[in-house]
Amino acid sequence: MLPTLPLLLFLLLLLPVPLSPASPPAVQTCQDFIHCLISGGGGFPSNLIYAPSNPNYSTILESTIRDARFNSTSTPKPSLILTPISTSQIQAAVLCSRRHDFHIRIRSGGHDYEGLSYSYSSQFAVLDLASFRNVTVNRAEKTAWVQSGAVLGELYYRIAKRSPHLAFPAGVTNTVGVGGHFSGGGFGFLVRKFGLAADNVIDCRGRILDRASMGQDFFWAIRGGGGNTFGIAVAWKIRLVTVPSTVTVFSVVRTIEQNGLDIANKWQSVSSKLPKELSLDLLLTTTNRTKNRATIKIAIFSALFLGKTDKLLNLMQSKFPELGLTGEDCKEMTWLESVVFHGGFPSNATVEALLDRSKNSPLVWTLKYKCKSDFVRGDPIPESALLKMWEKLMEIEPEFGGILMFPWGGEMEEISEFRIPFPHRGGNLYMIQHMAYWSDEGERHVGWLRELYDLAGDYVSREPRSAYVNYRDLDIGMNGEEEEGYERARVWGEKYFGKNFERLVRVKTAVDPENLFRNEQSVPPLPRGIRSQRIAAGSQFDRCTL
Ligand code: FDA
Repeated sequence: MLPTLPLLLFLLLLLPVPLSPASPPAVQTCQDFIHCLISGGGGFPSNLIYAPSNPNYSTILESTIRDARFNSTSTPKPSLILTPISTSQIQAAVLCSRRHDFHIRIRSGGHDYEGLSYSYSSQFAVLDLASFRNVTVNRAEKTAWVQSGAVLGELYYRIAKRSPHLAFPAGVTNTVGVGGHFSGGGFGFLVRKFGLAADNVIDCRGRILDRASMGQDFFWAIRGGGGNTFGIAVAWKIRLVTVPSTVTVFSVVRTIEQNGLDIANKWQSVSSKLPKELSLDLLLTTTNRTKNRATIKIAIFSALFLGKTDKLLNLMQSKFPELGLTGEDCKEMTWLESVVFHGGFPSNATVEALLDRSKNSPLVWTLKYKCKSDFVRGDPIPESALLKMWEKLMEIEPEFGGILMFPWGGEMEEISEFRIPFPHRGGNLYMIQHMAYWSDEGERHVGWLRELYDLAGDYVSREPRSAYVNYRDLDIGMNGEEEEGYERARVWGEKYFGKNFERLVRVKTAVDPENLFRNEQSVPPLPRGIRSQRIAAGSQFDRCTL
């Protein structure tokens, strides 16, 4: 059952388009846009529109800015923040954006690693979906509808409260928003057993566009093809997965002196081949930091096992004895409690902590950070190179630097690279997230992170060096002017989407030829001159398998 609001999935097409390609651009002003919102187009209530002069503007803007790097006086700010509470208001915002060529950015949870959902170098408005947070679970059908402004913690909580045997395979951090997360893939500790969040999006419903009316190419594109590209996702129907009533978790630390390097090295070849029920992540980092240098290298192995401790211990003894896991390291709990365990909360936190969307939740939102991603395919990183990367973490000046490694394999090995736009499937041993967190001024920490990334260059996927779109990284390329958009976008697009990039371009050209929904890394439409030719040629490559 849907909640009372009509749930629409995508709002962008089939709206009246007043501008023909030949019309001269109208004089665009913020006032025109506001007028259109309030009286011209959609009856958007003025009390849901925040201009910088409004005393609540900063509070609303900052409510989901999750990276302090983009919360400075030099960060470009929106001219308006729109906080719709109904789908007709979202529709009005899209209509007025198109009518007045007034750029909008969509924000759900605000976790974009480059702040693209709330910053832009020209005039723009933020369409903030924080009020769209219903989660409706159908226990018998093992499905749920979730609106884009819900955060992962709420989603997990609502599902598990309806049935402790149901779960959903998505990310680890409770405050990540559904809207951006599902748009780019979304993975966490259940990825090896059940795939990505986007793999488990099964339907969408609405009055304007739903799965049936959007067609299979469009439905394919929205599940991993990146946010703010094909339209506005308002709600998603997801397939829930079954988990046992008791799961086991652990998080164990090994220093170099405790054979940490050998164990980490072994982890590289073992972790993707473990049974799907076990996801064992590895974080290489350092501790005991003085001013500019750390002195101790640590490897943290964190796991979720869909079963009880005795079975896990037998498994680890036979597949990965080097870790030396003992019964004392393991904790049995419900799946929902395991989300809290891995979510970085204090040890006494209850599952209700997952509902906390505020900045009180555990991650230090006051820090600035940047991340970069990699995929290790085929062969592991040689031990000597791994040590060099780890050594680099010792010169850490940021508050925190780390190399977080997520094992692939399992279900990810079995899903075709073409099933949804996310292509990083079979043959990958694991994904890397290179991370730097800091609090002081200056961009030198970004430089440090790039050096760390360079050290991995010879040992990770190449031609292209792949990346994960949800770990947005503008270093790998950015969109330029419209007519050169396609060639420039290929540079970063093939890193994120591999061979799926071409199909994404065709979908974009068909559904949003005017590029209404765009950002620095949104898939562009083809230039006008070659559109019909390329779209027609592309139709023979229809590979949607759902
Ligand atoms: P935000 O609102 O910033 O949106 C991100 C992008 O999607 C923007 O381009 C935005 O315009 C667009 N967008 C947002 N809502 C949309 C909508 N309704 N329709 C269309 N486009 C929309 N990833 C992962 O896979 N596993 C993990 O465990 C984590 N953990 C994690 C922790 C932390 C602290 C951060 C900062 C990030 C992660 N991520 C992650 C990455 C996360 O999945 C990624 O940043 C998502 O895009 C965030 O979605 P939000 O809605 O929160 O962001």
